[in-house]
Amino acid sequence: MALAIETSCDETAVAVAMGHGEILASEVASQIGIHQQFGGIVPEVASRTHLAQLDPLIECALSNAGVALNEIDFFAATAGPGLATSLMLGMAAAKGLAVGARKPFLAVNHLEGHLLSPFAGLHGGARPSAGLIVSGGHTLLIDLAEAGIYRLLGQTRDDAAGEAFDKVARLLGLPYPGGPEIDRLARAGDCARFNFPRSMIASGDLGFSFSGLKTAVRRIIPNITEADIPDVCASFQEAVVDVLVAKTLAGARAANRQLVTVSGGVSCNTRLQARFAAACAESGHELLFAPPALSTDNAAMIACAALVRFRLGETTPLDSDMDPNLRLAA
Ligand code: KG4
Ligand code: ZN
Repeated sequence: MALAIETSCDETAVAVAMGHGEILASEVASQIGIHQQFGGIVPEVASRTHLAQLDPLIECALSNAGVALNEIDFFAATAGPGLATSLMLGMAAAKGLAVGARKPFLAVNHLEGHLLSPFAGLHGGARPSAGLIVSGGHTLLIDLAEAGIYRLLGQTRDDAAGEAFDKVARLLGLPYPGGPEIDRLARAGDCARFNFPRSMIASGDLGFSFSGLKTAVRRIIPNITEADIPDVCASFQEAVVDVLVAKTLAGARAANRQLVTVSGGVSCNTRLQARFAAACAESGHELLFAPPALSTDNAAMIACAALVRFRLGETTPLDSDMDPNLRLAA
């Protein structure tokens, strides 16, 4: 039985999970309302809010799980990547609980949490696959040989896909976070109206780039009216999705993987889901999405990854530090 804490960015989250990823409680206190007034995340505000929210959230998770503190076998926290001052708080809280309860502590890579989230609770756990992680902070393609053995196939050179959604939304005067808003507006839009660049789609490698796309949207903004916004959203989204689908399938072919997984906040995107389903049906790849509750940042995915690591015999020394630039694979 694991209790995990996730504070890498702007969500304070605590979860209790057991066995092979059976989630007993997953509490997320979002800070979106607080950061919305600034149009993005302010690190200082994020860490202060984590501090205020952590204790009540831990109690809430234990109570909703119906589990007493002394029934927890080990305590886990996200060690990175993320905001240093936010990571520190979650790590310190989990270490404190571990010391108090005389139980082990385990540091988890946030990206491993995302990568393994499509397998959470599934019989047999993680399977060999090509995994796309698409979130506000990350866009990377990983070859998963087995739990704990990862190889980086490609990643973004500039903005993450979710970051591009958020920045374009901001350009269009839409609220933060922009992904869900663009997803919603795009449903009424024409995705062929604006021909935005599909950066690096034919680059021959598995890297991504989204900053040119954002600039292309910025350029047309002076020439559009309110009524054009759904078309801009749909056309922008289509450009992002085109690249993500093409590169992920290219990665799966390069790594010779039959299974494709998609995780992270952007995996909630309805157009992305439909296009991946169609592409994988055509190419014959099996497709697995992170469940919606495990897509945007949460602690259940950290608890599940921690359970996998714990079963592999791992624990983390208490003098270990967080790492804002922690990597998943070389
Ligand atoms: O995984 P996550 O919570 O944070 C990071 O680890 O970075 O992902 C948040 C990101 C935001 O950029 C948000 O705009 C995006 O996921 N997102 C979406 C959708 N829902 C969330 N992007 C596109 N379409 C959506 N439906
Ligand atoms: Zn994340």
